[in-house]
Amino acid sequence: MGKTKKYCFGLCLLISVAINILFSINLYVGGGQWGEKKHEDSCQPVLSWSEKAAAEAEAVAAISCSGHGRAYVDGLVFEGQPICECFDCYGGSDCSELSPECSADADSGDPLFLEPFWMQHATESAVVISGWHRMSYRYADYTTMSKELENYIRKIHLLVGNAATEGRYIVFGIGSTQLLNAAVYALSSENSSSSSNVLASIPFYPMYKAQTAFFNSESFEFEGDTYSWQSNNSKNNEDVIEFVTSPNNPDGELKKSVLGGKTIYDHAYYWPHFTPITGPSDHDLMIFTLSKLTGHAGTRFGWAVIKDKDVYEKVLNYISIADLGISKDTQLRVLKLLKVAVEGDGKPLFEFAYNTMRERWDRLTSVFSKSTRFSIQKRHPLHCNFFNETRLASPAYAWVKCEREEDDDCGAVLEAGKIIGRIGSTFSAKDRYTRLSLIKSKYDFELLLQRLTELVLRENGSIQTM
Ligand SMILES: Cc1ncc(COP(=O)(O)O)c(C=O)c1O
Ligand SMILES: *[C@@H]1O[C@H](CO)[C@@H](O)[C@H](O)[C@H]1NC(C)=O
Ligand SMILES: *[C@@H]1O[C@H](CO)[C@@H](O)[C@H](O)[C@H]1NC(C)=O
Ligand SMILES: *[C@@H]1O[C@H](CO)[C@@H](O)[C@H](O)[C@H]1NC(C)=O
Ligand SMILES: *[C@@H]1O[C@H](CO)[C@@H](O)[C@H](O)[C@H]1NC(C)=O
Repeated sequence: MGKTKKYCFGLCLLISVAINILFSINLYVGGGQWGEKKHEDSCQPVLSWSEKAAAEAEAVAAISCSGHGRAYVDGLVFEGQPICECFDCYGGSDCSELSPECSADADSGDPLFLEPFWMQHATESAVVISGWHRMSYRYADYTTMSKELENYIRKIHLLVGNAATEGRYIVFGIGSTQLLNAAVYALSSENSSSSSNVLASIPFYPMYKAQTAFFNSESFEFEGDTYSWQSNNSKNNEDVIEFVTSPNNPDGELKKSVLGGKTIYDHAYYWPHFTPITGPSDHDLMIFTLSKLTGHAGTRFGWAVIKDKDVYEKVLNYISIADLGISKDTQLRVLKLLKVAVEGDGKPLFEFAYNTMRERWDRLTSVFSKSTRFSIQKRHPLHCNFFNETRLASPAYAWVKCEREEDDDCGAVLEAGKIIGRIGSTFSAKDRYTRLSLIKSKYDFELLLQRLTELVLRENGSIQTM
């Protein structure tokens, strides 16, 4: 036994020295761009079945696409090589061709601003999935939700201080999108002779209306804006289900319930990236999403935090009937991502995310301050408990208003300036407003800022130099 140990030690030392030499050569000769490889503890078992996949993953990730695109393991293949998927406005087989007249696309809420963080944390965030990983419908405890993942969700809420989770139930969904309707279903009245009234405050995220209409249930019906409802039905607030989006999409406001009935708090953006965290949200039904926390919208993962047991069971039943639970592969990946998110008490992730958003807002504010034709929403300073500091919000979207009387189609005005936004009527507001996404990649944001600057410079008739 002792002899084997000694032997192993000697062998390890030898291997370690050899590897060190190899790495030193690689570092000085071969570039070694992914850096910080740990090779002190090389007395690990030799990798077998994961090695080939790891090599493939790294080879594809190393395809540069001129820095203006990405290649993926599951992308299309041309002549045995994965092809580059180019960023907007870039083309060519290696994404090196920029279209100079390209419009800045600030339409979607794709949270790619967080991609650089995950590249910086490549080592900690990579996941290996074996060919036989969790083939069963269920976990060993007969549930379809990973207990360890639930622990990490509670941990991150505790760390950030944005939601009370003690004694609450948690249900996972395919994105928060699936949970929005699950929540409406769970809160709707069982009285078949009248349907529950679903409402939100203008401007609101259009999915609430779209889903409620699409599912076309006898138990619930979309009734539009809370304020008009209130003025028309002041006596009759009993069976309402109100979506409270806080911070709000599109305008970033920290909304509160208007009607005081049953509520669904959509906290997709209640993270330090976008708003000061003023305290733990303590509502009966709160919905969160990985999409706007870590930026992994493609992973399709969200969760609901629920106070009441009956409501919890109904949401669980909905997920079960819709899907028999959500993907185990997804849950594995989310667990890995949240482990990185909670590292250093969350400081690395949230500082990166907040600093990126704050810098974007500083530059955006500076452009809009020179304009009289366009304005953006006011941002309020609040004390952020997470950063222990008073800060301005840095919302995910700019809610742009065209101030000129004749500019009642703000989307068209911006489009003429080569900027694609999402028009106000999408959010049941006036088309004098347009939403611009600020959470896309830095390439998208740079082009947006350039187009906005050009538009503002043209405002006073002649092109002026700054
Ligand atoms: C307010 C709000 N809720 C929910 C969602 C849905 O997100 P996901 O389904 O990716 O969790 C979004 C996406 O943009 C959103 O803005
Ligand atoms: C169902 O709704 C109708 C109409 O609002 C009401 O008259 C009735 O009392 C309700 N029944 C129950 C069991 O709540
Ligand atoms: C409320 O009443 C006003 C007129 O008083 C009407 O224009 C509006 O459509 C009504 N809203 C709803 C939600 O019924
Ligand atoms: C928060 O900041 C204040 C003032 O800077 C300081 O006195 C206090 O100790 C800080 N609180 C925590 C929990 O760090
Ligand atoms: C355009 O003119 C207005 C009013 O004179 C001024 O406030 C604004 O700063 C000018 N904009 C630019 C971009 O020069």
